Amino acid sequence: MNIVLLGPPGAGKGTQAKRLEERYGLIQLSTGDMLRAAVASGSEIGQRAKAIMEAGQLVPDEVVIALIADRIDRPDAKKGFILDGFPRTTKQAEALDRMLAEKGIRLDHVIEMKVDDALLVDRISGRYTCAKCGAGYHDRNQKPKVDGVCDACGSTEFKRRADDNAETVSKRLEAYHAQTAPILPYYRAKGALKSVDGMAPIDDVTVALGAILDGAARPKAKAKPAGRAKAKPKAKRAGKAKAKAKKRPKARKKPARGKRKARPARGRRPASKAARRSRKPARRRKK
Ligand code: AP5
Repeated sequence: MNIVLLGPPGAGKGTQAKRLEERYGLIQLSTGDMLRAAVASGSEIGQRAKAIMEAGQLVPDEVVIALIADRIDRPDAKKGFILDGFPRTTKQAEALDRMLAEKGIRLDHVIEMKVDDALLVDRISGRYTCAKCGAGYHDRNQKPKVDGVCDACGSTEFKRRADDNAETVSKRLEAYHAQTAPILPYYRAKGALKSVDGMAPIDDVTVALGAILDGAARPKAKAKPAGRAKAKPKAKRAGKAKAKAKKRPKARKKPARGKRKARPARGRRPASKAARRSRKPARRRKK
């Protein structure tokens, strides 16, 4: 199963991607994480991306497209992936379609996580992660069970992202509305876009996503996957409909008025055995 999670910064894409990874055995491909790793390693890409990311702007399309193209080719992505933070522009969405078509990979779900801007600044400025294993936390919404100790690995070291400050967040939100939100109609037009309420508590969002991925929450008109989906041949569908109709028991038809069995006239109704006995005393046969 291959999924795209769309949504503004702080919508919960990373939080949910981690949970989906575990539940469905997929791999999270976050372009933000890849770029941060490049920055930390001091690579050429990292040096190019650092200032752009800290300013809350988008890294050039060709850089992230190349990153994703390379990452999707690795063996661990073959079991299925969750794209988190990619695509972010129409150019990236089109490049992704081409890339997947060339590799014969199908995109099963594109899910938008809807959250009001007002909530996002609080979510992002309260966010921190474990410095050792990367598990995500929040000052108020998602604290570790034991204060100061990572639930996942027991580490006591945590870090905050350089771009998680109020000023940069508002720039990232601007970039989202100007460059990323316009790709929603692109996927909607393909019939591939589903959405969940990202304002709900974290566990509820996980349940809503699970309902889409497990196919329990079928939209009114069944959405087609963004990739190539095999349509059932018409004849087969018609055959199925016929078989269904055959199984249904036929309603008993009332005979036409003229053909109905005439009721015997009142006086001529056949008398019951008891009535006949009471009228005629039984004669004994002479021997
Ligand atoms: P990236 O790392 O992708 O950041 P982002 O899209 O801004 O998203 P975030 O990771 O900030 O948020 P999220 O939706 O994952 O939320 P999270 O789950 O952490 O990108 C960073 C930068 O890299 C970009 O600005 C850009 O410069 C560059 N870049 C990346 N990809 C690019 C691309 N394709 N093209 C060009 N440039 C690119 O949740 C946030 C907090 O809220 C957490 O603390 C969490 O605990 C909490 N929370 C989550 N869900 C809930 C909930 N339901 N209720 C309450 N709290 C919640």
